[in-house]
Amino acid sequence: MIAGYDHFVQLAESLQWDETDLDLGPDRDAWTRLAPDEAATVRGLVAGFCIAEASVAGQLGSYQAAALDDTMQAAFRAQARDEARHARFFDLVAAQVLDVPGDTPADRLDVLRREVSSELVDLFEHRLPATARGLAEDHTGLTGAVGLYHMVIEGVVLLAGQHAMLQALDRLSVALPGVHRGTELVLRDERWHIGFGSRVVQSAELGGEEADALLEQGETAAKVWGGLITPEAIALAVKQHRRRLKAAGIKFW
Ligand SMILES: [Fe+2]
Ligand SMILES: [Fe+2]
Repeated sequence: MIAGYDHFVQLAESLQWDETDLDLGPDRDAWTRLAPDEAATVRGLVAGFCIAEASVAGQLGSYQAAALDDTMQAAFRAQARDEARHARFFDLVAAQVLDVPGDTPADRLDVLRREVSSELVDLFEHRLPATARGLAEDHTGLTGAVGLYHMVIEGVVLLAGQHAMLQALDRLSVALPGVHRGTELVLRDERWHIGFGSRVVQSAELGGEEADALLEQGETAAKVWGGLITPEAIALAVKQHRRRLKAAGIKFW
């Protein structure tokens, strides 16, 4: 039986927001008053989100093409709209708050790419696109591709990053309210993306080897943030990943 994914599409519709409605003016003023180590942490995380969201936003076309039914396809389409907005939001933060130089988002990505780990760049700009290309050629790889995108990348890497970001923002000596609100809204979107991906994985038969690979990928991927995320936060993200995989009916030995 093919599961219906209509409720994810309706949920996405009810959660729509517009990044240009957020007032980043106060954040821009506050930014110059942050201590250097505070600014460095936020900048490192924003750099990672800029690279990550720009990449994930471009990969959902092959997922849509490989969808098992119209409702799943519509959910991937709704997700792509969210990811494009996330990419625009973090680019706005980079341009308007952090003052990252460049005339275009691509220019700013060139600057920010040098500020993140090579593992992060590799995961988002090489491994994920390679998986999406593989999926475009062979639609039977959908479960594994959703496993990498929704369970590993969104469920571990982005969720851990967003939690670290909100925690860092809450501890700043001067608040960044627009960045905080936007990050909360991104996190809210990511939750349904992860729920949707879990449903796709749950509806599929996953072999033991694939399941082990998903778990191992999560453990490795959580480390792409380097020193920006504490070992405790990484351990928690991996634990939640394991729990989510189990809830999706995946068994480990
Ligand atoms: Fe996103
Ligand atoms: Fe997402």
